[in-house]
Amino acid sequence: MRKIGIIGAGLMGNGIAHAAVISGFDVVLVDAFEAALGKGLAAIEKNMDRQLAKGSLKEEEKAAALGRLTSSTDYHVLKGTEIVIEAVPEKLEIKESIYKELKDVLAPETILASNTSSISITHLAALSGRPEKFIGLHFFNPVPMMKLVEIIRGLATSDETYKAAADLAGRLNKTAATAQDAPGFIVNRLLCPMLNEAIFALAEGIADAASIDDAMRLGANHPMGPLTLADFIGLDTLLAIMRVLHAQLGEDKYRPAPLLVKYVNAGWLGRKSGRGFYDYSVTPPKPAR
Ligand code: NAI
Repeated sequence: MRKIGIIGAGLMGNGIAHAAVISGFDVVLVDAFEAALGKGLAAIEKNMDRQLAKGSLKEEEKAAALGRLTSSTDYHVLKGTEIVIEAVPEKLEIKESIYKELKDVLAPETILASNTSSISITHLAALSGRPEKFIGLHFFNPVPMMKLVEIIRGLATSDETYKAAADLAGRLNKTAATAQDAPGFIVNRLLCPMLNEAIFALAEGIADAASIDDAMRLGANHPMGPLTLADFIGLDTLLAIMRVLHAQLGEDKYRPAPLLVKYVNAGWLGRKSGRGFYDYSVTPPKPAR
């Protein structure tokens, strides 16, 4: 595999493109919007500059990597790619309409992967019209730094497709964890209920935000406390994942904490909105309540 197509130049798409060109792949990055492409390309350059400053990338490696990257708003540039990774917003109707367009563009042997966090891979595979050639490749943010990729097989995914995806993960220098097609896969299924429980603990007055975070950092050796991590992920994103787990698994233990719902309704979305469980208008951020 030499040439990868990526659809969506947002947070995840530009991260995947970054990791792929650094690993020596040719990448075509496609987005519906010219401005989004510009923003995505600028983010890749900025993130490579950070690696330069840290000494983990050399100037000539950056130039070579950027030389392997092209971008377009036209899906036809995806012709000739061996795998296309879709990283567009988490909306079924957007993903579905793109897969429809791809039917006339991609060769039958091209693999189509989705970076979806919560939509069933089997369902997307059926919509794609190439279920044997469809797979979930769930990367983590920030993609160039995070070592894990979850690989999710749909019901009809072929062994050949799975092997190609696992091989790609290795060549991107990632460790693959293979999961069944089930809500939340592995990481979100385990992590999000823990973050949600930390919010219940805060709401019940069991401890204040700083104590909850200190307890899990120092007592469980987590690099970040759960409330800090929830703010980092985005409280709206966490709520959306809890709602998927709750709806699809149907158990009370996945019900979103009412305080989480309240914060999202207030527009307190965490780091990105300047306020969540911490107030980010001050340095260092201080507990907001
Ligand atoms: P984002 O909103 O940052 O980027 C989405 C990009 O898709 C934007 O650049 C947008 O212009 C583009 N787009 C919208 N409609 C399009 C179309 N019809 N054709 C081509 N491009 C189109 O979203 P983000 O956060 O990168 O998420 C993308 C996917 O990755 C979602 O499925 C999400 O669930 C998943 N994901 C997100 C993670 C995160 O931490 N944000 C982590 C792992 C997976």
